[in-house]
Amino acid sequence: MPNANTPRTIRIGLAGLGNVGAGVFKNVAKNRDLILQRTGANLEITKVAVRNLGKPRDVEVPAAMLTDDWRAIIADADVQVVVELIGGTTEAFDLVSTALRAKKIVVTGNKALLAERGQELFALAEECRVPIYFEAAVAGGIPIIQVLQEGLVANHIRSIHGIINGTCNYILTRMAQAGLSYSDALQEAQDKGYAEADPTLDVSGWDAAHKAIILASLSYGFWIKAEDVHVEGIDRVSIADIRFAERLGYGVKLLSVIRADDQGRVEVRTQPTLLPSSHVLASVNGAFNAIVVNGDIVGETLFYGRGAGQDPTSSSVISDLCEAAATIIYGARHTGFVPHGLYGKSKPIDDTESRYFLRLTVDDVPGVLGQITTALGARGIGISSVIQPEDLESESATTSLVLMIHDAKLGDMKAAMGAIARLSCVREHPVWMRVETMTS
Ligand code: HSE
Repeated sequence: MPNANTPRTIRIGLAGLGNVGAGVFKNVAKNRDLILQRTGANLEITKVAVRNLGKPRDVEVPAAMLTDDWRAIIADADVQVVVELIGGTTEAFDLVSTALRAKKIVVTGNKALLAERGQELFALAEECRVPIYFEAAVAGGIPIIQVLQEGLVANHIRSIHGIINGTCNYILTRMAQAGLSYSDALQEAQDKGYAEADPTLDVSGWDAAHKAIILASLSYGFWIKAEDVHVEGIDRVSIADIRFAERLGYGVKLLSVIRADDQGRVEVRTQPTLLPSSHVLASVNGAFNAIVVNGDIVGETLFYGRGAGQDPTSSSVISDLCEAAATIIYGARHTGFVPHGLYGKSKPIDDTESRYFLRLTVDDVPGVLGQITTALGARGIGISSVIQPEDLESESATTSLVLMIHDAKLGDMKAAMGAIARLSCVREHPVWMRVETMTS
């Protein structure tokens, strides 16, 4: 067995030297000896592809190592592992598929690529018998992929509840704790390097949804389609709603929920969600991520760490490089995603059920509450509590009504919200958010 006395050099081509790529370059050098002692592998980055050779960089890369053509990395016979950190889905797909066909092990942190085209890429990986490692694609520095592939392999996954977008969690935390506006908090998150190049992916909920698709697909053994996922962003969360939620004993988080029902149908949702303030997930703040995985044998497990940023994400990429080294030294285990037929169906989104928070701006006249309860009751939706916060009443002719709704189907909620929005006593579009009790 190779050890530090008989090291095996693993030659790596790195495509992309942005925030995470630079972190990988820097940290492979920083902990090279430790990794060598632990794994017997001498990780050597031998080629780096960048878009612009002249761009000033945070890390010093010898000019002879640089190329502006990722194909040159794959064509280099010495390169055994190709790291895709260029982002996007079109050129990145080309890069990953070209690398697999050339029998190079692929390491990628590209959640959009895997969520959208994972099924094709893993089929190709299987055909080429070359693995794809993707620890950095979900939750930055938290090794959640290895948890699902290895640590919890003995379990049917009952549910996963995750805060898996650092940018959104940072924004919601700064709004709640410092009273910042949404746009000031977003600017701060971008300045700190948490956001994707296009922050729309973060704030629309789609970055978290891509990660949820990957976690759900690994958990249930079939590739979840993006159109079967319910996604809402944080751009419509207001400080007023955060404050109402706090008064009711809840915090607001962008939460991804994955679970199978008793017929094995899988639900995947990413939405701003009210969580009981007493639950551990409600205290996950800033750019941190946390994931609660409930397995049928193990019960509840919790994973917490930095979900974005250069160093945490590069920690995950380097762990994949060590996996790649082990594959080269000891032989492959599997190609990254193992499909199986024990589950196989997504639950229709409109059939998914949960409690809801509803805030309405209504005329302050008698009979309004009756009209609203009638519209909800017509769809079989029950109310668990109603609050008309007196301290917010002013000289204005409108008032706020906050309602907590019992478990309801999403399809029924949509229909009821449409009917309520059309009532003449309702003055603004209804604001409604899912409430998770965290009991299953
Ligand atoms: N933009 C992502 C986030 C980075 O904020 O979580 C890690 O995927």
